[in-house]
Amino acid sequence: MGRRPSEPGTVEGETMPEGKTMRWNLPDTELPTTWFNVVPLLPEPIGPPLHPATRQPLGPDDLAPLFPMALIAQEMTTEPTVEIPGEVLDVLRLWRPTPLVRATRLEKALGTPARIYYKDESVSPAGSHKPNTAVPQAFYNKAEGVARLTTETGAGQWGSALSFACAFYGLECKVYMVRASYEQKPYRRVLMETWGGSVVPSPVDEPGHPGSLGAAISDAVRDAVGRPDSHYSLGSVLNHVLLHQTVIGQEAKAQLAMAGEERPDVVIGCCGGGSNLGGITLPFVTDPRVRLLAVEPASCPTLTAGRYEYDFGDSAGYAPMLLMYTLGHDFVPPSIHAGGLRYHGDSPIISALVRSGRMQAVAYPQSKTFEAAITWARTQGTVPAPETGHAIRAVIDEALAAKEEGAERVILFNYSGHGLLDLSAYDAYLRGQLVD
Ligand SMILES: Cc1ncc(COP(=O)(O)O)c(C=O)c1O
Repeated sequence: MGRRPSEPGTVEGETMPEGKTMRWNLPDTELPTTWFNVVPLLPEPIGPPLHPATRQPLGPDDLAPLFPMALIAQEMTTEPTVEIPGEVLDVLRLWRPTPLVRATRLEKALGTPARIYYKDESVSPAGSHKPNTAVPQAFYNKAEGVARLTTETGAGQWGSALSFACAFYGLECKVYMVRASYEQKPYRRVLMETWGGSVVPSPVDEPGHPGSLGAAISDAVRDAVGRPDSHYSLGSVLNHVLLHQTVIGQEAKAQLAMAGEERPDVVIGCCGGGSNLGGITLPFVTDPRVRLLAVEPASCPTLTAGRYEYDFGDSAGYAPMLLMYTLGHDFVPPSIHAGGLRYHGDSPIISALVRSGRMQAVAYPQSKTFEAAITWARTQGTVPAPETGHAIRAVIDEALAAKEEGAERVILFNYSGHGLLDLSAYDAYLRGQLVD
């Protein structure tokens, strides 16, 4: 299905030894100028967020202690697109548009007829897709006179993205880092501090606890509502976060066309709260020929084993209640190395897509994902974040299925981040110390 990739000379790009183009770069001028809002296109309307105390639908004023009005408006909008401010585009242009790359060496190693493309979000300053939303979030807070942001971080990717963005807009940044990651990943802390962020392990009041994203959110929300100069910032889950990430899928569509592909057969992303997955998949939602696949850890299987119901966004019950797949807000996932996937719930948008059958979900134990990540490193060269390793596992399985069926298939996935600050996890895997 789809046409063959263009012959050399028809697009700008690097060439492989065989003379095939393998990397498609959009010029700076092609950076999307609007975000794509999937909300009006969902098969069923998503439930409104509820007040954690009254359990009544939240109004903008209820959210004002946490977020600036511009983001609250984006959280609730049903407009099909939202304009990206010029000042935000100027910062995104430091690394965007990101390349679309064909993983020809992995294809060859697998002996698959599938064509595997990845969107390389690891090229951002923080090394993941997270700055795509950190930048606009810091921008809108600054524009509304906020001096300080608080947040949680799992793997440290989101905390570093927000620390980076706050440095650009002159905001203070306080990061509550899940204790297990704080201890496993000291260099992420150093990176956050280099950008001026201040980092503490969470939960703050339980020193022996490994922590969870839900508990770290409670710490960050409590801090923000207790200070008039502060707001809270969330790196995933919410509608406005997925909205900001849609630059990924929009660029990928244009780049696949440059590569001579009509459309992908399947689009794959790992899923913690759903932001990188939403970023790459949502612009494809309206084409029923494109399969959408979420990949999650078997130890935190929200989409594949969770209940679809209203639950708190955090463990202490301070954050709004969302209609989503959840394992329960007091669920403490095991300390797997993909810290960014250890969240008890999921984006309401992603949950609605899975619930309606428009998106599928699959769960893998972490040893399988590290095996895939190592295969990737030894064929494609780069070292993926452990979260990204989950997507790669599913990509390899899709490519092997295509091989069995003798089917030419176009696979697109989100390479959500690099793993150069996650080497302690690789060390554990390589020494056989990693448990499922
Ligand atoms: C590299 C990377 N990929 C994926 C994720 C998962 O988050 P989300 O589901 O919001 O994309 C994270 C979260 O920290 C991450 O750092």
